[in-house]
Amino acid sequence: MKTDTIRFFGRRKGKAITGIRAKMLEEWLPQLTPKIPARGKIKLSFGIKPEKLVLEVGFGGGEHLAELAKRNPMTGFLGAEVFLNGVASLMAHLNGSHQSGTGKLELEKERVDNIRIWPEDIRLLFDKLPDALFDEIYVLYPDPWPKKRHAQRRFINDENIPVLWRLLKPKGKVFLATDVAQYAEWAIQRMDESHLFNQIKKDTKTPPKGWISTRYEQKGLKAGRQPNYMIFQKKDKKVKKCLTNAKK
Ligand SMILES: C[S@@+](CC[C@H](N)C(=O)[O-])C[C@H]1O[C@@H](n2cnc3c(N)ncnc32)[C@H](O)[C@@H]1O
Repeated sequence: MKTDTIRFFGRRKGKAITGIRAKMLEEWLPQLTPKIPARGKIKLSFGIKPEKLVLEVGFGGGEHLAELAKRNPMTGFLGAEVFLNGVASLMAHLNGSHQSGTGKLELEKERVDNIRIWPEDIRLLFDKLPDALFDEIYVLYPDPWPKKRHAQRRFINDENIPVLWRLLKPKGKVFLATDVAQYAEWAIQRMDESHLFNQIKKDTKTPPKGWISTRYEQKGLKAGRQPNYMIFQKKDKKVKKCLTNAKK
């Protein structure tokens, strides 16, 4: 995928970010954002030696990412979010941060350093991420784009599915949740027709064990919307011939 042709259609900014959140963005975000090499693939350089790697696309306010990272201190997490207010919210959830006596915000040296943040469209990073990097990829409540003519803007689409396949380790999993029935049906169909993934959770109405609810899910539940939970597992390399689309 050529990065200069990538267009993002969602919101990048909400209400003005001020005070401690603005400070967190200014002082911490550069420390937690991976540097993009001019050539070659990115190194995420966590403060831990990760046993597993997980990507969350569109982490929103970061509640899910922060809690998952806390529960799994030996896993490295890359979170991507375009909406800057969401990135600021994730910062506020990071454990092990404090304000020193001088008023300077500091990331605690002793904290579990297992989150890296990409405050941009994840597709801009695809070319820089090596094959078979992640054990799991979470796409929780992606923007639904309900109109048929906007369907290709949905994150789960024919262009991104082969990339998700490439980025996952053998038997790696995509966790997808949506409360838009039409999106769930579309995603299941697109994944099935790609021949790259098996849907391994057939009951879409109950959450997987240990599920961490997101802010968007909570809003939907209050409004009476029914979540759909899907898990897709990467098929093995016999299907590699289907991968003509998986551009690196
Ligand atoms: C409907 S919100 C859901 C947020 C969160 N996952 C939750 O469940 O509360 C979808 C989020 O995905 C982000 N997003 C959409 N496409 C993205 C992309 N290509 N890269 C990074 N973030 C993206 C949007 O900015 C938005 O915040």
